[in-house]
Amino acid sequence: MSSQCGSIVNPGTFTCNLTVNYQIPPQVFPVAIRHRSCQAGANGWIRAYCQRCVIPRCLVRWADEIQDSVMGETKSAAQDRNAADAALIWMQDVSKFFGTFQALDEVSLEIGTSEKVVICGPSGSGKSTLIRCINRLEQHDAGRIMIDGVTVDDSAAARAVLRNNVGMVFQQFNLFPHLSILDNLTLGPMRARGLAPAAARELAEYYLERVRIPEQMQKFPDQLSGGQQQRVAIARALCMEPRIMLFDEPTSALDPEMIAEVLDVIEELAATGMTMIVVTHEMGFAGHVADKMVFMDHGRIVEMAPPKRFFSEPESERCKIFLQQILRN
Ligand SMILES: Nc1ncnc2c1ncn2[C@@H]1O[C@H](COP(=O)(O)OP(=O)(O)O)[C@@H](O)[C@H]1O
Ligand SMILES: [Mg+2]
Repeated sequence: MSSQCGSIVNPGTFTCNLTVNYQIPPQVFPVAIRHRSCQAGANGWIRAYCQRCVIPRCLVRWADEIQDSVMGETKSAAQDRNAADAALIWMQDVSKFFGTFQALDEVSLEIGTSEKVVICGPSGSGKSTLIRCINRLEQHDAGRIMIDGVTVDDSAAARAVLRNNVGMVFQQFNLFPHLSILDNLTLGPMRARGLAPAAARELAEYYLERVRIPEQMQKFPDQLSGGQQQRVAIARALCMEPRIMLFDEPTSALDPEMIAEVLDVIEELAATGMTMIVVTHEMGFAGHVADKMVFMDHGRIVEMAPPKRFFSEPESERCKIFLQQILRN
């Protein structure tokens, strides 16, 4: 296992700031070479290009002892790229109507690789609609959305970029009740990514461990607590190995004592360099995790600022009142 920085791995394609070689058991190989930008090397080695996020997280378990340094370097490499490169998620003047009702009103937002954005705002202000438009669960009516340089529309390219890059976690977990936890997790990787059952199971086991419930694998969703179900939902999204995770009020359906266990998992994920949009009113969490806070009202982004400024000096009266109400409760 080795790592080196600053080498040009693939001249003519892009410069890689970090090369990590993992030696991995052959049975994981089919998983590994499906990763974006990964190339198989000689003798079962995988060369993972960091430049587009790409430490293959399912492999890191084989390389625990370098995990911290790898993740750290990946993050800073991604941050460097941020400064120079286009946004990973780019929205320009996006509007969305339900009939004559305008749910989004010319929303513009840019999110760089590894950036964490927390969106808050009153009920009905368009938060869910915004993130649902990003992954095409809703179609926007005007403006433009791009993910990693690909316009989000009905094209095959857009479907592929969404499938390969974007995971979503909903308020109501949305697990398949008739499937075991394991089957909930392996379905997507097998159907959408063509993984063999053994490889899909490896992924599922790995991510269930990451969300700290490996022992629940054979149970069904209704045998788990709300907090456990939501952690399964997070693991399920991670099994698709997305670069971007969208969370729509992931803790608001939970009993208070279960909120922390889910927020802890999301916070850990944030620390790996994952790009995230989190709709939440958990302001303590937001203060820790967010690079950028967004406040929405009536379908518009009313305020956008780093958390420190957002909480201490909100500019709009509407945001001030909202924060006072939220922080009082
Ligand atoms: N499928 C839909 N049909 C009609 N109206 C909708 C639909 N989805 C959302 N809306 C309306 O759009 C507005 C924004 O909704 P939403 O994005 O869910 O708000 P938030 O997530 O901020 O609570 C609300 O007034 C809501 O009633
Ligand atoms: Mg909502």
